[in-house]
Amino acid sequence: MFDFTKEREAFENKAWLSSPTMHGPELEYIKEAYETNWMSTVGANINEVERLASEKVGCKYAVALSAGTAALHMAVKLAGVKPGDKVFCSDMTFDATVNPVVYEGGVPVFIDTEYDTWNMDPVALEKAFVLYPEVKVVVTAHLYGTPGKVDEIRNVCEKHNAILIEDAAESLGATYKGKQTGQFGDFNAISFNGNKIITGSAGGMLLTDDEEAAKKVRKWSTQSRENAPWYQHEELGYNYRMSNVIAGVVRGQFPYLEEHIAQKKAIYERYKDGLKELPVHMNPYDGTNSEPNFWLSCMIIEPDAMCKQVRGEQEALYIGEQGKSCPTEILDAIASINAEGRPIWKPMHMQPIYRMNGFLTREGNGRAKTNAYISGGTLGKDGKPLDVGMDIFHRGLCLPSDNKMTVEQQKRIIEVIKECFA
Ligand SMILES: Cc1ncc(COP(=O)(O)O)c(C=O)c1O
Repeated sequence: MFDFTKEREAFENKAWLSSPTMHGPELEYIKEAYETNWMSTVGANINEVERLASEKVGCKYAVALSAGTAALHMAVKLAGVKPGDKVFCSDMTFDATVNPVVYEGGVPVFIDTEYDTWNMDPVALEKAFVLYPEVKVVVTAHLYGTPGKVDEIRNVCEKHNAILIEDAAESLGATYKGKQTGQFGDFNAISFNGNKIITGSAGGMLLTDDEEAAKKVRKWSTQSRENAPWYQHEELGYNYRMSNVIAGVVRGQFPYLEEHIAQKKAIYERYKDGLKELPVHMNPYDGTNSEPNFWLSCMIIEPDAMCKQVRGEQEALYIGEQGKSCPTEILDAIASINAEGRPIWKPMHMQPIYRMNGFLTREGNGRAKTNAYISGGTLGKDGKPLDVGMDIFHRGLCLPSDNKMTVEQQKRIIEVIKECFA
């Protein structure tokens, strides 16, 4: 018989990948919305989260929306992407980074990842402009809260007169050269999805220094209503505004952003220390120029310490080997002690939905012309795997990174990982 008490206990004691952490003020702001009857997409909580976000990130204008995906969609529209337009996109990211390009009829062309920060490779981006000089928009994400090579990417965009959209959904609070991520693009997006560093249960925000752009997004996101006594529409509209109830949660969370980052950093450091004897590395960052928000701690196994692992479209198999392991074995082991890990976000160029899209590596090749997968085993002229995203996906995994995870739970996870390599 199904044991509800046992299931509930397992749920409550689980070490999650990243779950919401509430503090109390969130409920007060929700109550305020209820008691003042601003149960709507207008209200004090919305005004306040827009003020807080623009102040924190350092952009002049912030528009609160129903999701980070909605913010990215608005950004793609602002960038003027039209049906058939190619758009250069981060490859190793969540699909919400690139789907909005397709909503507008655009065609994502994926730019491979670099090993230093696991983000868009500026070298591959430059090469991509050689093949497709007509491209006018670039969408770049900061994976797992680690800032990418912002200056290099911005320089390439400037050189080619391309608009930059920054997907800072995972990196709120992370800085690059002392500046917050979410301010480097022409149009930027953050997310308050339930798994993010701070959350509203849902929600997102469009950030920009362009007043006209912000005004457009306010209009488009409220069904593009014109200023008339009746419902008057000249443009296509969307129901994308944030609810004042959700905004209450975000408002209550904002003061805890730095505390969450400090907890996540401590988790990262504990993993780094606990795993230092193993043939693995933590997800890397450029410690000179950037300070991540450490949203997710990840690890990658050295090539020589990988046992055999094969992944199909839905299943994975591995053959255990003494002294070696693989993400599938480690994820199984973590799950067996009621902890949640996850494979690295599967690169977009490997996703069935995007199999016909272009993909460019640092050598300017990939499948731009042939549409054929290049093998993960193919090496570049520098002797390293040519398809970096595929390689990191193969050898890496996301570790339980919840800020409510106890030190004891984390120690147990580290032990279990060590056992995999025994
Ligand atoms: C990199 C990235 N971009 C975009 C999104 C979309 O945000 P949302 O879930 O708020 O729509 C997410 C997360 O969900 C994300 O991780």
